[in-house]
Amino acid sequence: MIQQLSITDIRNLTSVSIKPSPSVNVFYGLNGSGKTSVLEAIHILGIARSFRTTRIKPVIHRDAEVCTVFGRLGVTSGSIPVGVSRNLRDETLQIRVAGENLKSTSELARLLPLQVINPDTFRLLEGSPKLRRNFIDWGVFHVKHKDFFPLWKRMQKALKQRNSLLRHGRINSSELTSWNIEFEKAANAIDLLRSNYIQKLIPVFNQVLCELADLDNLSIQYYRGWDKERALHEVLNSGLARDAQTGYTHAGPQRADLRIRMGKGSAVDILSRGQLKLVVCALKLAQGFLYKELQNKQCLFLVDDLPSELDIPNRQKLCRLFQKMNCQTFITCVEKEALANCWLPETEVKMFHVKHGQITLDDNPGQQSIRRAESLEIEHE
Ligand SMILES: Nc1ncnc2c1ncn2[C@@H]1O[C@H](COP(=O)(O)OP(=O)(O)OP(=O)(O)O)[C@@H](O)[C@H]1O
Ligand SMILES: [Mg+2]
Repeated sequence: MIQQLSITDIRNLTSVSIKPSPSVNVFYGLNGSGKTSVLEAIHILGIARSFRTTRIKPVIHRDAEVCTVFGRLGVTSGSIPVGVSRNLRDETLQIRVAGENLKSTSELARLLPLQVINPDTFRLLEGSPKLRRNFIDWGVFHVKHKDFFPLWKRMQKALKQRNSLLRHGRINSSELTSWNIEFEKAANAIDLLRSNYIQKLIPVFNQVLCELADLDNLSIQYYRGWDKERALHEVLNSGLARDAQTGYTHAGPQRADLRIRMGKGSAVDILSRGQLKLVVCALKLAQGFLYKELQNKQCLFLVDDLPSELDIPNRQKLCRLFQKMNCQTFITCVEKEALANCWLPETEVKMFHVKHGQITLDDNPGQQSIRRAESLEIEHE
């Protein structure tokens, strides 16, 4: 949980400092005022990179060379200071945790598990399988990180070596045989971690989806990246000629996917935009609930433009689930009133007005938390 946040030179946020609520934080303001940039800054604090671009140049304020995000993170034993800064001139990244330099971004990611829901997250259903693999691996990484990360590196190395031998036509070499063995070992172990995780996630997802939308015949199936009836070495042997021709490996965990269907059809072809958003939200929320259940910790949600595509009852249902999870949430919207009547009276909601890169705490947040219990009950009935 972020207790304090200071942002320097991230896009138009030259210097801002806030004390967020441990529960709900809403950032409202006109287009271009800097709302998404606040979420982007938190993402940089959490994993040292933006969710909007892989390049750092557009993220740093146009007149600056360095951007910094500082956060005080609440932990059971108190709080720890974390600072992340990126330098444009020498492209360096500096991560400081409790006064020490940290080398690895994966260590940083474990400190502040983040879930992002933004207009781009639609691509989780529409886009390439890589996005769905990243989704599965978020869960596996945060739940089984000691096992997963080394395995994933082993698998990547074996795959790279195998592909290189294929491209050089060395299909009968003993080297290929040894890399096949190494690849299969890592692949099976990754598959086991992923399938165990998905098995746990699916019932949680079904429950969350049930609270959000009436989509009974939506189903999720995990595809491991090769035929479920055959061992990987058999599949690799039978596909060797094709792999050699194209220069890459067609089967393995690098091809895993989640198949999301409505009845017999693909969910993306059938669902409306709002329904798609609800399904993506249900997937992300399910990960949050499962993380809480397995790790007894909370992840933090960054929700950009929550109201878009959703009608008022659906906004309320979504907000209700964030409150049920009791996680720290950072939400953006244009209109201050867009999420009025979404909060329970006991929820600590802080409203921040974002204007030309400045953030002010709204000390007259209006009726956002008034009479919430009754009206949520009414909506629910
Ligand atoms: N490198 C930069 N330096 C300075 N300003 C920038 C830089 N990159 C983007 N901006 C500006 O920062 C502002 C913040 O953009 P941001 O995407 O955070 O706005 P927003 O409040 O989320 O708007 P919307 O409601 O349209 O989504 C924009 O006005 C943008 O033009
Ligand atoms: Mg925005």
